[in-house]
Amino acid sequence: MSTERSTNSPAAHPWKGRVAFVSGAASGIGFGLARVLASRGVRVAMSDVRREALDSACARLAAEGADVAPFVLDVADRAAFYATADAVEQRFGKVHYVFNNAGVGEVGTPLDQVPDRVFDWVIDVNLRGVFNGIKAFVPKLRRHGEGGHVVNVSSMAALVPDPGWHQGVYAATKMAVTALSLDLRLALAGTGIEVSILYPGLVRTDIAANVGALRPVAYDMPPETPALLAAADMPPETAAEIVLRGMERRAPLIVTHPLMWPVVAQFHDQVRAAFEAAP
Ligand SMILES: NC(=O)c1ccc[n+]([C@@H]2O[C@H](COP(=O)([O-])OP(=O)(O)OC[C@H]3O[C@@H](n4cnc5c(N)ncnc54)[C@H](O)[C@@H]3O)[C@@H](O)[C@H]2O)c1
Repeated sequence: MSTERSTNSPAAHPWKGRVAFVSGAASGIGFGLARVLASRGVRVAMSDVRREALDSACARLAAEGADVAPFVLDVADRAAFYATADAVEQRFGKVHYVFNNAGVGEVGTPLDQVPDRVFDWVIDVNLRGVFNGIKAFVPKLRRHGEGGHVVNVSSMAALVPDPGWHQGVYAATKMAVTALSLDLRLALAGTGIEVSILYPGLVRTDIAANVGALRPVAYDMPPETPALLAAADMPPETAAEIVLRGMERRAPLIVTHPLMWPVVAQFHDQVRAAFEAAP
């Protein structure tokens, strides 16, 4: 019998006793991540911009025996992100896992009609928020030298840029998450800090209601959006389990819905056709 042990096997992954920071943890995928991490013995700093929702999400996991604490934060606020990272370290000690998950989705409005403030808001949360999370935590991970993992949450929207409804602003931010993450992976090569990009398909969350409550201007949710989200069938905890398995195998890219590949491939086919047609 071989005595060789794969460091990629789930049993070898040192989840227990480690510390995670999850943004957008009051709801949906972030809450699912916090819950599944806690079930692996990870201590979780749960963060969200919605104080009451965060407190109740945190209380719910604490009642299940999780070692969790709430940190109210708007990820778009860089100074507040730095202060939060310090506060998390003070409360839990060294942080190993960072999930830049908080995000807002605006789809269904033709690009030329998207209100300017909505454009700025989506960029601030989905793009600046991820950069801020990287800047706030990665120096701390580098400093302690115990290794770690940064997971940045993109979207299937980054891989299917033209699904037939309007999602230009949202997809632009999620494509940008790919670019930031690939560069971060290069920057951290050899440090023991992994970087993964998560591309969720439709996951059953309250994102439509949360976006409605958080958006900076009154603006009716386009009718396509609720219909689209009603089709979401995957529970957040299932998505979170897929993420953790991806982390265990050090996957640079993690997808939740493999059946989406033919749709993604259509765009790749367009790119190939453009190259083939080039003079
Ligand atoms: N649900 C899906 O089908 C789906 C698909 C693809 C990608 N995603 C992405 O997954 C991530 C999580 O989405 P979800 O569906 O769980 O949504 P959700 O609304 O259930 O959870 C997102 C959380 O982020 C918080 N948040 C929003 N703005 C914030 C800010 N400025 N600072 C801090 N927290 C903020 C919200 O309060 C909310 O609790 C997002 O980045 C989203 O774009 C979701």
